[in-house]
Amino acid sequence: MSDEILSHREGGILTLTFNRLDKKNAITAAMYSTLAAALVGAAEDDAVRVVVLQGHEQVFTAGNDLADFLNNPPDMSKKDADPAPVVSYLEALRTFPKPLLASVAGPAVGIGTTMLLHCDLVYAADNAAFSLPFVNLGLCPEAGASLLLPALVGYPRAAEKLLLGEAFYAEEAVEMGVVNRILPPGEVNAYTQAQAAKLAAKPAASLRATKALMKMGQVGLQAIMGEELKLFGALLRGPAAKEAINAVMEKRKPDFKGM
Ligand code: COA
Repeated sequence: MSDEILSHREGGILTLTFNRLDKKNAITAAMYSTLAAALVGAAEDDAVRVVVLQGHEQVFTAGNDLADFLNNPPDMSKKDADPAPVVSYLEALRTFPKPLLASVAGPAVGIGTTMLLHCDLVYAADNAAFSLPFVNLGLCPEAGASLLLPALVGYPRAAEKLLLGEAFYAEEAVEMGVVNRILPPGEVNAYTQAQAAKLAAKPAASLRATKALMKMGQVGLQAIMGEELKLFGALLRGPAAKEAINAVMEKRKPDFKGM
């Protein structure tokens, strides 16, 4: 396990911590590989009963590493044989059979927010800021957000978040149903661990069955995630994404004239 993803196992709870603070926990291909392997391993390991994803008090994750987007764009077409690490991570999230919890403080950008739609319980600090800036980056949603978000919050609200890409904060996230509860930044990880401990003490087969039954309603999720990745991969190589990502990295406004 790399030190950019910390892994800690205690009492049936596996906690995976984003730990690349100097880059606001932006996720690289190597980090996706580590996360995917950890989830696949946790799914198979009877000693792991619950998984928690967390960041630090000031940032959950700034989403996909932008330099990776420009210099090492994932090949979304290699789905079955040797998939891109981000694809493996998304698939591991979609199919994870045990309770998956997230503890979010500070910014949760892009996949930092969409991964939460695959979690069973999400607790957020009052400094949490969620954003889905895909369109602003010349991209489109991933992780099934184009299905899961409208299903959760209704089409108009999902369109507002996905088309405008403006940040939303903890209170609105609770009201939308993206987050279960708000806590102070210094308490959110401990509270999430306490909830995870309650789940770890429950009968694993019942938890698994209940989660599988609730997820049965997500008809078409796998197909839409495949379609999202196809479009995302194409847009990532297009002129708008190049301009937008360079603009973020150069701390300037993008110029989409003619695009
Ligand atoms: N990929 C790579 N590096 C990133 C990053 C990302 N997604 N997000 C932040 N960083 C880096 C910055 O380039 C900067 O690096 P430097 O110190 O070498 O210049 C460092 O992290 C600190 O970022 P900064 O923007 O100064 O921090 P902030 O506290 O002012 O803002 C964010 C934090 C997360 C709100 C802001 O960094 C941001 O919006 N990042 C881009 C998020 C994004 O667009 N992600 C892709 C989603 S699809």
